Amino acid sequence: MPGCPYCKENVDPRASGASGFTLAACPTCMNPFVLEGDHSSTIPGTSDIRLLAREGSIGEGLLRAAPRAIQELPVLPEISTRIMQLLRDPESTLKDIAETIRQDQAIAVKILQLANSALYGGLSTISNLDAACARLGTRTVANAVQAVANGNLYVTGHKEFRELMRSYWVHAVATAHCANQIATAIAEPRGDALFVAGLIHDIGAVVLLDIIASTRRGVLGELHGSPELVNEVLASYSHVVGLHVVHHWKLPPLFAVTTYFHHAPDLVMSEELRTATHVVCLANAVAEASGFGVDDGKVSLVTHQSAKYLGLSDIKLAVMRADLEDAIKPLLAITGP
Ligand SMILES: [Fe+2]
Repeated sequence: MPGCPYCKENVDPRASGASGFTLAACPTCMNPFVLEGDHSSTIPGTSDIRLLAREGSIGEGLLRAAPRAIQELPVLPEISTRIMQLLRDPESTLKDIAETIRQDQAIAVKILQLANSALYGGLSTISNLDAACARLGTRTVANAVQAVANGNLYVTGHKEFRELMRSYWVHAVATAHCANQIATAIAEPRGDALFVAGLIHDIGAVVLLDIIASTRRGVLGELHGSPELVNEVLASYSHVVGLHVVHHWKLPPLFAVTTYFHHAPDLVMSEELRTATHVVCLANAVAEASGFGVDDGKVSLVTHQSAKYLGLSDIKLAVMRADLEDAIKPLLAITGP
């Protein structure tokens, strides 16, 4: 069994990789690393996370609390993976998707609501799920199911962090929508998976926020009342924690890679996954540049590395930005905290 290149602990190599490499994460020291067959190695350009998180630091406190918080995170509803399977199956139809949705009453109600919303509503009100699915079309239905399933994870009982959680949710939906649009623009066939990748790309921040919100004592207690510090901490650790969440949910390698590398897509070793990661990286930037980020950082799309990599012109991105608010409004109305 291969060992973690940092702490030498043996690692369960269950997570399957793509194109010969697997992005693994050590459950003991939390470090991400690469597995190739029986060989494990560090990711070029990344340093040992334990050096960042020194003893007694906020980082150390968070990383120590993370494994338990990840365990306690609700599982991604089965309907989410079921819909992804159906979309991959060329034989499946819109009827099969409707049938799956019918088994989850809460989601079925949301789909009906969406079909009758201002953006999609026709002349008549629809009260039957098959007709609602037909009105919305496969892609919109599938994306809406994923958004409803994910939105529940952003609910927090801690008032202090409610607004920030909501910003993360709006950012997630905007990023998901843009990832889907970018996939269409570059004729990338994994648009549905990229929508989900956009939804979960900052899931690590949700886990960390939950840890911070429920810890009032010790070093983590210092984060209360200091939003700048919270943002800084989330920016440093959310991709690592996100990677652990994706492994915990046993999602395919695409999600591990896009979640961990979405700020550094050039480091992705497989070309196939690098393109997907550039899509999420650019979608994240388009969302931020359009006012759907979590802090007020200024992002430039004109010189964005992923726009260049994917061959997307700034005119195309400008059109996407102009439509973004209206496009996500109906989804936000039926999902999230
Ligand atoms: Fe993001």
